[in-house]
Amino acid sequence: MNILLIGSGGREHALAWKLAQSPSCDTLFAAPGNPGIAEEAELVDLNIADHMAVISFCAGHDIGLVVVGPEAPLADGLADSLRDAGIPVFGPNRKAAQLEGSKGFTKDMCAAANIPTAGYRRHNSKASALTGLAEFKPPFVIKADGLAAGKGVIIAEALEDAQAAIEDMFGGGFGDAGASIVLEEFMTGEEASFFALTDGIDVVAFGSAQDHKRVGDGDTGPNTGGMGAYSPAAVLTEAIQADVMERIIKPTVAYMAAHNMPYSGVLFAGLMLTGEGPKLIEYNARFGDPECQVLMSRFTGDLATLMLAVAKGELASAPVPTFSGDVALTVVMAANGYPGTPQKGGAISLNDVRTGKIFHAGTAEKDGQLIANGGRVLNVTATGATVTEAQINAYAVVDGIDFPSGFFRRDIGWREVEREAAM
Ligand code: AMP
Ligand code: GLY
Repeated sequence: MNILLIGSGGREHALAWKLAQSPSCDTLFAAPGNPGIAEEAELVDLNIADHMAVISFCAGHDIGLVVVGPEAPLADGLADSLRDAGIPVFGPNRKAAQLEGSKGFTKDMCAAANIPTAGYRRHNSKASALTGLAEFKPPFVIKADGLAAGKGVIIAEALEDAQAAIEDMFGGGFGDAGASIVLEEFMTGEEASFFALTDGIDVVAFGSAQDHKRVGDGDTGPNTGGMGAYSPAAVLTEAIQADVMERIIKPTVAYMAAHNMPYSGVLFAGLMLTGEGPKLIEYNARFGDPECQVLMSRFTGDLATLMLAVAKGELASAPVPTFSGDVALTVVMAANGYPGTPQKGGAISLNDVRTGKIFHAGTAEKDGQLIANGGRVLNVTATGATVTEAQINAYAVVDGIDFPSGFFRRDIGWREVEREAAM
């Protein structure tokens, strides 16, 4: 089977690396890909927004499966177009992708299906949102409804800051994403990510991870797309995962099916482990980045066959996903300036590092030199028997890389490293 992978980040490099290992994968194509992905796949120059062009590429190259990495093409209906053309696709249709694309939609679903999450109110005008703040206590949680590249959530201690965030969202500071907003109760607890695969009917667990969203050591500074992650997240015990499956994931899949928008693909649940049990913070309609990098480092099955089973609605007869017992940990090396405007073009020397696995997130090649070409640039991934060991192994690789115009966090995995030290 020939496969087309859509995307160009570290998540897609990890998917390409794993797909290329599948016995059922003949030729792997990636659009647009990056220099790391080019080691696993043939890069193709396709306009992803032009669905007819993607379909005709698939027809011309005997593509048996399309894997969509990022959320934007899903929200844009690429999976719908491919399904309509009879091409198996891993990733949800546009309406199902609302689970990520509209926070209000997901909150309403949680209310209807009795799924544990923070209490909320939706507002479609600035005046009602400003008045509605009175229903909440600080810290105030204000969310733009739509896709905002991970930047659409403001947590404000002071009422004035909450009001300013509302003014900004309705003033167009978040583009169309802020035309409607959600106010939420603040939840306290540790965050973790849980992944499940579903073909719209059947569901299987696909591992856990913990991300590090803040830019600085000790979880300080502004939010980013994620500065590092490890898997599995031991805080998500077997019992909690079973609870999440029964009370959050399965009711979601059932709700979507019952409302004529069956969800097919990976369901990525951002969870808050509160004193009242796990609660849903948000859903994503795709793998996490960099969570995917650590999941793929531990996944021991045949990814192409599994994704095809999801795409074809045959998950019930697919082998249950298996993972190595090791911990995987990834450190994001970012370009100076990130999460603001990153400095592009800085030289990178990988220095023939031979341990770990370096996924390319935002790189390019210029005159034979690897350079930074985005905010998050490299995802340095290693494994170990414990988080402590995986952390040591990952930073040994990081320290062998020369990237003078970049930076990284030194403490990825710190919560679990502290717990392991206390054991
Ligand atoms: P989201 O984009 O919805 O994942 O939100 C980004 C981050 O904001 C989350 O990872 C949490 O750290 C935080 N957050 C979102 N909603 C809440 C909430 N209701 N209570 C506390 N923290 C939240
Ligand atoms: N790392 C968080 C995300 O992919 O949304």
